Amino acid sequence: MSVRRLAEVEFQPEGFAFSQANAAWAQQTIKKYPEGREHSAVIPLLMRAQEQEGWVTKAAIEHVADMIGMPYIRALEVATFYTQFQLAPIGTRAHIQVCGTTPCMLRGSEELMRVCKDKIHPQQFHRNESGTLSWEEVECLGACVNAPMVMIFKDTYEDLTPERLAEIIDLFDAGQGESVTPGPQNGRIYSAPASGFTTLTDETVVLKETRDREARKPAAATASDAATVAPTQSAKPKTDAPETDPRLKSPSPVKADPAREAAESVKAPTGNVAAADRQDPAVEGNAETRQHSGKKRGGGETEAAAPETLQGEPIGPGGKRRKGETVAPEGDPTPEAPKTRRRKADDASGAE
Ligand code: FES
Repeated sequence: MSVRRLAEVEFQPEGFAFSQANAAWAQQTIKKYPEGREHSAVIPLLMRAQEQEGWVTKAAIEHVADMIGMPYIRALEVATFYTQFQLAPIGTRAHIQVCGTTPCMLRGSEELMRVCKDKIHPQQFHRNESGTLSWEEVECLGACVNAPMVMIFKDTYEDLTPERLAEIIDLFDAGQGESVTPGPQNGRIYSAPASGFTTLTDETVVLKETRDREARKPAAATASDAATVAPTQSAKPKTDAPETDPRLKSPSPVKADPAREAAESVKAPTGNVAAADRQDPAVEGNAETRQHSGKKRGGGETEAAAPETLQGEPIGPGGKRRKGETVAPEGDPTPEAPKTRRRKADDASGAE
């Protein structure tokens, strides 16, 4: 980056003041920032001063610094750091910024700069004799895909040739800059392929395919209408269970016989708590086996065998078989737990 200094004293005006509209805008802009953070408005205010005067004068820098309570040196640092701020007078009708970064350089930006040197001034940041034009080389302006390009004020002119740039410079110098349309100057739309389309080049093929597809639609619709496909059964339940027999009516019209229901029901034990808690010996054995396995089951469980016994793998706490624990034989309809057998054996020995 080159050293950026303020313009010589002879170019600096005596003072600076925002226009009435710009002054109101500046006050509104300062209010956007929190109290005590007014310094943050320095860049937008300096840019508005440049848009008003064409460049950033020393008086403008100090005026902006006063508005936001910023030391002059801080405002000077900002103005001299950012290359977007022009620190010397520029052309009154056009200041041409030529991108010289690699993509534009490869596409001919040096030729564009030669045009600027020929038509404006051999050195950048110098105005032509009438003071209407100036130019400078800048870094990438973000339109690389349409390189080479230049920026004039806020518009970009892309896909330039030296001849086209010369024409544009002449138009701006004549005060007819608005007649030039910004953007690509070679006729392409935005960044579409410069050499034309490489695919889908034959439009008639695309149109024919569309026509054929449209023509096929009615025929396909007629064919599907005529089809006699049975309705799908995919969402229907697949079961032969009598409970889901669609012929069953619910509620059932057949009333249950109360006397038969009572006879078939298991009567609850009454008047004897011990009898109520006692279980069938086979069931009790299973329950104890389950307790050894670390699983608590209700005393009223009446399964013939616990799942773990059926699988032959009683599981104790921690997933391991306890020492001395045995497995009920598979297929035994009335398996007896080891403890039950041991208790019976103890009873027998006691009786002797
Ligand atoms: S390199 Fe020139 S616009 Fe990006």
